[in-house]
Amino acid sequence: MPLQPYEIDSSRMPLCLGSALRVPSYAYSNWGIIGDEVWLREESDRQYEIEWKCGSQRQMQNVVRAITESGLGNYSQILRDENAELASRRVQELKGKLDYLELGAGISSVNFYEQMKKDGVDLERVYGTLIEPSEERLTKTSEKLEALGLTKGKNFRLVVARDVDIPKYVCKRFFDIASYVAVFHHHAFIDTPLAHVYDSLKKNGLLIIADWHNAMWEHPNRVYEFLKEDFEWPTKSEDLEAFAKAYPKALEKAPELSSLDASSNANIKKFWKSWAKIRGEDVAAGNFKPEDDIWMLEAHRPVERQNEAIQQVGYKLDTPGIRTLQEENPRGLVEGSGILYVTLAEKTE
Ligand SMILES: C[S@@+](CC[C@H](N)C(=O)[O-])C[C@H]1O[C@@H](n2cnc3c(N)ncnc32)[C@H](O)[C@@H]1O
Repeated sequence: MPLQPYEIDSSRMPLCLGSALRVPSYAYSNWGIIGDEVWLREESDRQYEIEWKCGSQRQMQNVVRAITESGLGNYSQILRDENAELASRRVQELKGKLDYLELGAGISSVNFYEQMKKDGVDLERVYGTLIEPSEERLTKTSEKLEALGLTKGKNFRLVVARDVDIPKYVCKRFFDIASYVAVFHHHAFIDTPLAHVYDSLKKNGLLIIADWHNAMWEHPNRVYEFLKEDFEWPTKSEDLEAFAKAYPKALEKAPELSSLDASSNANIKKFWKSWAKIRGEDVAAGNFKPEDDIWMLEAHRPVERQNEAIQQVGYKLDTPGIRTLQEENPRGLVEGSGILYVTLAEKTE
């Protein structure tokens, strides 16, 4: 694939970096990114879409393997379980038929229906709208839901699209619950998807975001030091030089971190080291395809940064409805680290 804007050639590195347009938009000045805001917004979303639209099953399997083998625990499943439990509890609080929206559907959607079954909820009460840009992943999800006894069209519908496209596919003030499980960090600019989901929720509609958080991608120096200290590859000095040339702040010291953010960064580094090992095995065996890859520069951000944006859009983070579901909001899911949080946000108007 040709090099993308703000991307350097990482083809000889042990992992693919991707375009720096994918980092949180508030960190663009650190990465030397400038340009027309409309273009930056569209292009940064496109950089995520290229990665995920053709995402393979192997891609997701290797992500889960990398997390598990890193010794961190199955973070993907922790996030799915949290969403499933909270969404099922919300369903039980509400009466009659209701509508569930999931952005970036997958195993997490199946887990939600499984949890409701376990909780004795009548599944006919819940109609799911499952949005996901990877057609292959959506088809597999649909097969698993049908295996649970659900029927496409009657219990759920599938939409191959991104969250930023939802005004084209869903009505305003329609949903009772909207969920993102390990998906929301796929945006450099988070205000647009937050506003679209806000519009799609009914009054007292609940947004659940279960996601990864860290401060690694806020500054090129953190990435530069990580590559320098933790990886070896034949063209390392040349590639690091190209990195520093493209992103000059790579050679300036990044700001100090809180202990929670430092711990999250240490955890995300463990993930990427584990990913590089698994990827390297597939490359050596000649099994690795471009659609199996994931790109390291991402828009993970500390949870406070995410939640500032959530409140700016109009959601409330502290409501009686939220307090009955979880006393502490956002709630950290890994002791001593800020890496995983579940955040609940309510539309109160
Ligand atoms: C780590 S997977 C999580 C999948 C699922 N939520 C689960 O937990 O099983 C991330 C998913 O987000 C999807 N995704 C990426 N960008 C998206 C966007 N803008 N809107 C909706 N989904 C997106 C990807 O295609 C991918 O399936």
